[in-house]
This record gives sequence, C-alpha cells and structure tokens, in this order.
Amino acid sequence: MCGIVGIINSKDLKLKAINVLNKLEYRGYDSAGVSFLAKNKIKTITEVGKIAELSKSLSSDSYSSFESVIGHTRWATHGIVSKNNAHPFSNQKISLVCNGIIENYNELKLKYLKSHKKIIESDTETIFLVLNELSKEIPDNKKLIKKLVSIIKGHYAFLIYFSNTQEVFSLKSGSPLSVGKSSNGIYFSSDSSALNEYVDNIYHLKDGDIIRVLGQDTSFLNSKNVNFEPLKKTSNEFSKGDFKHFMIKEIHEQPLVIKNTQKYYDVDYFLDFRNKLKDVSKELDSFVFVGCGTAYHACLIAKYYFEKYTDIDASCEYASELRYKKISSKKRSIYVFISQSGETMDTLMALKYVKSKGYNTIVVTNSLESTMVREANITLPTYAMKEIGVASTKAFTCQLLALANLSIEVGLVRKNINKKEYLQLKKDLRNIPAKLIKILKNSSYIEKVVNLLSSSKACYFIARNIVFPIALEGSLKLKEISYMHSEGFAGGEMKHGPIALIDKDVLSICLNPKNELYEKSVSNCEEILARGGKVIVFSSKSLGSKKNLLEILMPKENYIDTPFIYTLPLQLISYYFALNEGTDIDQPRNLAKSVTVE
Ligand code: F6R
Repeated sequence: MCGIVGIINSKDLKLKAINVLNKLEYRGYDSAGVSFLAKNKIKTITEVGKIAELSKSLSSDSYSSFESVIGHTRWATHGIVSKNNAHPFSNQKISLVCNGIIENYNELKLKYLKSHKKIIESDTETIFLVLNELSKEIPDNKKLIKKLVSIIKGHYAFLIYFSNTQEVFSLKSGSPLSVGKSSNGIYFSSDSSALNEYVDNIYHLKDGDIIRVLGQDTSFLNSKNVNFEPLKKTSNEFSKGDFKHFMIKEIHEQPLVIKNTQKYYDVDYFLDFRNKLKDVSKELDSFVFVGCGTAYHACLIAKYYFEKYTDIDASCEYASELRYKKISSKKRSIYVFISQSGETMDTLMALKYVKSKGYNTIVVTNSLESTMVREANITLPTYAMKEIGVASTKAFTCQLLALANLSIEVGLVRKNINKKEYLQLKKDLRNIPAKLIKILKNSSYIEKVVNLLSSSKACYFIARNIVFPIALEGSLKLKEISYMHSEGFAGGEMKHGPIALIDKDVLSICLNPKNELYEKSVSNCEEILARGGKVIVFSSKSLGSKKNLLEILMPKENYIDTPFIYTLPLQLISYYFALNEGTDIDQPRNLAKSVTVE
C-alpha cells in the first residue's frame, strides 16, 4: 500500500504532484506529503488525512524555485497516523519516500541509531535516520545507496533525494514502481496509469533495480539494457462522470465491462488459450484457486464451476495461508491466482512460492501492467477497466466471468461437456449483461432494504451452493463500506450455531435461486422467521407474503449466471445503506485498494 510519486526536472510541480497523488490515493489515505527539491534546498509539507488536506496546506506559492518534487500518500503500517509519521522524511540534505515494509528496522535501529533519543515509530523514519548516519562515513551517494540496499530486508520501493548533488535514486524490491520519460521531465509512480497525462513510454522497475537520476539523465546501477515500452492509456479512468461515487459508477458499468470482457474471450482470447490448455489440462490432477478478500470469494465460485463443468478436482486457498504452507511438488496441479490489482503482496508471494515448487501458474487480473502478470506463466485478463472504489464490484464480476469461461473451456478440452452444452453456456454468459441491466432498472426495493438495515443491529447473509460465496461477498461489501456488523453463513450451517444469533433486532438476507436446493433455503427463511428474526429474500420464485418478510424477485437464472445475478443487488444495497450512514464510500476507514504489504 501507499503511493509514491517523483517528478524530476520539471515545471508546475505542485499541480502535477497533487494530480498524481490524487490518482494514487486509492493506495492509502491516512496522511500525505511532498518535498520540493532544489540544489541544497528541500521544502517538505505533510498533512494528516487525504490529498485534499495536503493540497490546502500547500501555500499559494507555485514552488517555481524548485526543480523536482517527491510525494507520498500513506496507508499506516508501522506507527500511528500522525504528521510525524507522514512521508517524506527529510532534512536539508536528504528527503525520502517509501512504499512497503522494512522488516529488519528494529535491528537497524539497534545497530545504527543507539544514541538517538527521539522515539522512532516507523520503519521508514528508521531508514531515513540510518541513511543520515551512514552518509557521515560514505560521502559518495551511489556507494551509500548500495550500502543501504545491502542492509535492509523487506518489500519496498523508495525514492531518495540528495540535495548536495541533486541526485534522485529509486530502488525497488517487491513493491511496484514505474518510471516514465518525457521532454518535460522524468516521472516516477507506484501505478503507471497515474502518469497517463505526462509520459508516453514507461519502464516497470524490476526487483533489485536501482535507478539514479541526475538532470535529464537516468542510469541503471544494476543493469545496462533497459527497454522503455509504450504506456497503454485509457481515457476517463479517474472520472466519476455523473455519479456521486466511483463505487456506484463501477456497479453501473458492470453490464458493459462484462459484455466487453466476454466479447474478448469469444473472438480472441480463448481460441488461442484452448491450445495452451490442451497441453496442460489433460494431464492435470487439480486446479487450485488462490486469492484474498473478494478475489477469494471468486475462487470459491470457481470451485463450484469446476465441480459442475469438469471432472477435475478444484480447491481454494487464501493466499496469506498458502504462502506459508507446505505444498507437495508431486501433485499435478495448476495454480490460478486471482487479483484485481495484480499487486496484492500475499497473492504475489504465494504465486512466487508456488512457482518455485515448479507448478504452472495462471493469473486472472485486471491490471495487465502488474507484477503478477510478469510472474505468472499464463495471464487471463479481465477488462473491467480501472476500478477506483476501494470496495471491489465490477472487477469481481469480471473475475467470475473469466473463471466461468475457464471452467467450460477445461470441461470441453477434457470432454466433460459436449460442444452443444458448451455453446449454450457461452450463450448464457453473453446474456448476463441484459439480466444485469434489468436488475439495475428495477431498484424500487432499495429504500425498504435501507430502512430495514438502519433499524437492525447486525445483518447476516445466508445461502447455499453456488450462491454461498455470494453471501460471503455481500457481507464483506456491507461491512467494509458501512461498518455494520455482518457475516455470511452457509444455509445448512445455521442450526449448528449461528441461529443462536437470531432475534428481532437482527436482519437476515437470504439468497434463494430456484435450483435443487430451493426448498432447503426456504426452510432457512422459515426457521429465522419462526424465531422472530426479520428476513429479506432475493429469489426468482415467490415465497408468498409473510410477517417480517420482504421478498425481492430476481430474473430467472441458469447455474452459470446465478452468482452474477445475486451479486448485483447486494452491491446496490450496501452502497445505498452506506450512503444513508454517511460513510466515506470510496475510501472506507482503515482500508486501501491495493494491499501491497503483508
Ligand atoms: C474488497 C476488496 C478486497 C480485495 C483484496 C484483494 O472489496 O476489494 O478484499 O479483493 O484486497 O485484492 P486484489 O484483487 O487486488 O488482489
């Protein structure tokens, strides 16, 4: 997490730095800061809170006497949210910003900063002070940086400025950092898309890279041949359009992005992919799906799809668990990593770990420029376009689409489904946008749901089979943006414990598609109503009217489109309830979009 920016040898520094930081704000918004840089001169301004606060604090000065700027937007890891812990850390000699975690900072503190009286809370402040100490003995900045790299352990991306020589060094190990060049300066950013307006060519730093910038010259301390590639640009990514929040804009974009992604799969991607799959999937024992948070819920849905359309074993792992687990190198498995950002630290580390054991890897991602794409053997892209709202919506449904397609391709290759069934399933997938449009149009129930949520102390989502992961996802959405207590339960588990939670102040949201488990799901609703609980049921078959029951009719579903149909209304009710609660919907407290620390 955290976002860093560097604009070297350029003009309009204030405007540009704030513009890029605003685009990086999704990576963390606890505090922000900038250092304006010139020969023997550093001016640092930091603020607690969002970029808007920092922007207000920057005086009307245009900072035109400075040549460069580095900046940071923070998601706190070590040390409380405070001005003192905000980056950049600077004095008149050095200024630095960091994205990541320095794991051995306590060790370094003991070794190099024994005489320091000040309480040092953060890992980055430690590195700043250590660098100052080392600079007393190592006057050459290149040597100093190499020494620093040799003593720090962790995952990081740094920008470091020395005012005596006006050198800027960028270092990367684990955390993303890209550099772009233009006639108007050299630009660094944690996310290359934040540089769209300023550069045409980009280089994504590799682990171990150290770049030194002096004036308009960039030199690589560790490698000679570095290729800058054209930066892929998309328009309007950072605009809310007519919507109040990115989240609701992104919810409404789902029919379009699903249509575009499916079109790409139909006419292009899977034609070639099928050949690649033929080689691997016939010889396989299992598919293992790996992700975190919402992406993990997509993994769970993938398991249902694979069980339905293929004869191959499928299992799911939390990336944060898998990366520390013993895995046998004997099984013939393919690991599928699901990550909107392609940068989530736990997922990335799990991918590297699995690769080191000799397994083939696929990454399903929305970020084609991401580190996971560079690491995995095969990329299965989603075309959800940039997702800015911290709570994932359209990226999730596009992940489901990718996994549905993958499962039926595997089923076809292994002859578990025939061509006719395959074509029908493809048709069902192509029909999803129309069903979603219908759901978006018919949202008259939302006010009632918001009122019921407002009068409840907790909300539980209950479902079975392929919609059970959607209950988990609905619950995650609600809690992360409205902060209401919520959990998701498998219907059959209710009587094994959770039903004890039911009383008149608790709201249960049941997802009851009309499938072979419909009657059992109805029994769950009845059991809750019988205990005085309030129930909202989303279903394509009416239950009839009952006291304490609000019924919301859904379009008829097929197995393959069920998760899409039941996800959308849950996203909508979370959004409108959070709106009613007045929370910060696009940037909920304590969260960040891209979790690039452990
Ligand atoms: C919740 C949410 C998170 C992410 C998770 C993984 O709405 O967005 O749970 O799904 O942090 O992120 P990615 O998909 O970028 O790896």
